[in-house]
Amino acid sequence: MITAEQRENLKKVAQQMVAPGKGILAADESTGTCEKKFAKAGIPCTEDSRRAYRELFFTASGIGEYISGVILYDETIRQNASDGRSFVSVLQQAGVLPGIKVDQGVKEMDLPASSTRQAGGSPNEKVTKGLNGLPDRLKEYAKMGAKFAKWRAVITIGEGLPTDANIRQNAKDLAAYARDCQEAGIVPIVEPEVLMDGSHDISACRDASKRTLTALFEELEKAGVAIDGIILKTNMVIPAKDCPKQATPEEIAEATLGLFKKVLPKELVGQAFLSGGQSEEEATANLDAINKKGPLPWKMSFSYGRALQNTALKVWNGKAENVPAAQKAFLHRAKMNSLATLGKYSKEMEAT
Ligand code: 13P
Repeated sequence: MITAEQRENLKKVAQQMVAPGKGILAADESTGTCEKKFAKAGIPCTEDSRRAYRELFFTASGIGEYISGVILYDETIRQNASDGRSFVSVLQQAGVLPGIKVDQGVKEMDLPASSTRQAGGSPNEKVTKGLNGLPDRLKEYAKMGAKFAKWRAVITIGEGLPTDANIRQNAKDLAAYARDCQEAGIVPIVEPEVLMDGSHDISACRDASKRTLTALFEELEKAGVAIDGIILKTNMVIPAKDCPKQATPEEIAEATLGLFKKVLPKELVGQAFLSGGQSEEEATANLDAINKKGPLPWKMSFSYGRALQNTALKVWNGKAENVPAAQKAFLHRAKMNSLATLGKYSKEMEAT
């Protein structure tokens, strides 16, 4: 159990992470994910090209105005900028909190031999790796300056999916991770992501998200996690990418907040959305529509990966001479999302 003082410290960091006008940059792609992203853009993927790519974001002038924290990958938290400063110092000096991804990716969920598919999980569903040895890794990251961590669980919608067993296993693992983080003085970003792959509609997303979040908060409570010392990072309630009936930002905001009002505890400080495959402008417009419905009991912010990086990656294209233009593209996206956390974004601002 953590002390009242430790809890207060966690809460302060959580509040900083979702401070008004600010959100999180997810720059924690594993080496494998980076390889795929770079290959698509025709950029060679080496330890140094990944380092140069991250440096572009972390040294963008004024990043701290819009970005409260950056989620780093194990390789990245150990790297330096070209001026010799560690990335952790670069971020600290810009007023940005360093964070760290501590999950080790996903694997197929085992099917217990005796169970039926519905009760026992499915080989088409995933669970997250990384609980073994987690307390020791957290201690090391805390020493290196990490103030928060991230663990991503994925929930798949499909025929008969998600199963209760998969939802429960992911909720239990997220709760165990969150407890380990709080004991190490690190704020856990608790990320259950209902994937937007496929063609399911918005109501299928709402149902799966409702089951997922209900189980999650039950397990967090059972594990003794301080709810005001976490940041939730879940999906918007949104139709799948290939659903023939797409939704407007207004519909997405309504469905998302309708669910959140039923399942999120009031003590929760904030929720920082993932972008999950939305385009950059969709992710901003949807977050803005959600905040236009405020005031809300919790801060609604962003923790975007692709929706903050896609244009910057294209503009950079692996070339040092493109860094200033790529930084400009990144800062523009960060500013648009900052405005969206305040419900003050409009599409016309994209042209500025
Ligand atoms: P996206 O915004 O690209 O979905 O990434 C956020 C993230 O950190 C997923 O774990």
